[in-house]
Amino acid sequence: MKRVELLLKDPLYMEHIEKNVNLEEDEKYCKHDLRHMIDVARITYILILEHHDLEYFIQEAKLSGKLAAKEVIYAAGLLHDIAKWKQYQTAQDHASIGAEIAHEILPRAFFNDNEVEVIARAIYEHRNISRDMSFLGERLYRADNLSRICFLCEDRHRCLKYQNKEIGHDMLAY
Ligand SMILES: [Fe+2]
Repeated sequence: MKRVELLLKDPLYMEHIEKNVNLEEDEKYCKHDLRHMIDVARITYILILEHHDLEYFIQEAKLSGKLAAKEVIYAAGLLHDIAKWKQYQTAQDHASIGAEIAHEILPRAFFNDNEVEVIARAIYEHRNISRDMSFLGERLYRADNLSRICFLCEDRHRCLKYQNKEIGHDMLAY
């Protein structure tokens, strides 16, 4: 996955991850560091493979093949919370800023215009479930929620997402 390796080494990508890490220094759970990004990338890919949906995704997103699809899925996971630090500072929605940042970073890792649109849309959509979201956006949303180990979190009863059963109740229900 050469393009994913390029993405991980991109200076702007690393800068955003570092800003997330610095602003979450005192947080114990639900961090938005590189580990979370990789967890979500892997879980998104697993969700798609387990349901034998890779070929469907290739057709639906007009991708060139399995490698391109894997790279697009991983790029979406690796970038989905890239702008979390900005939300802490300005209260702007991290998903929409993250989609903008993806437009800037992805061409440098040789993702083409179509792939950039597919990834940016999924990032933009990943916060909330809705009827008309894209295939990748929906899988990203589910993977994000599945990635959190809420039963270990002391603060889970104070967490709105946990109380609303959006997160942490159904970790193995792929
Ligand atoms: Fe996330």
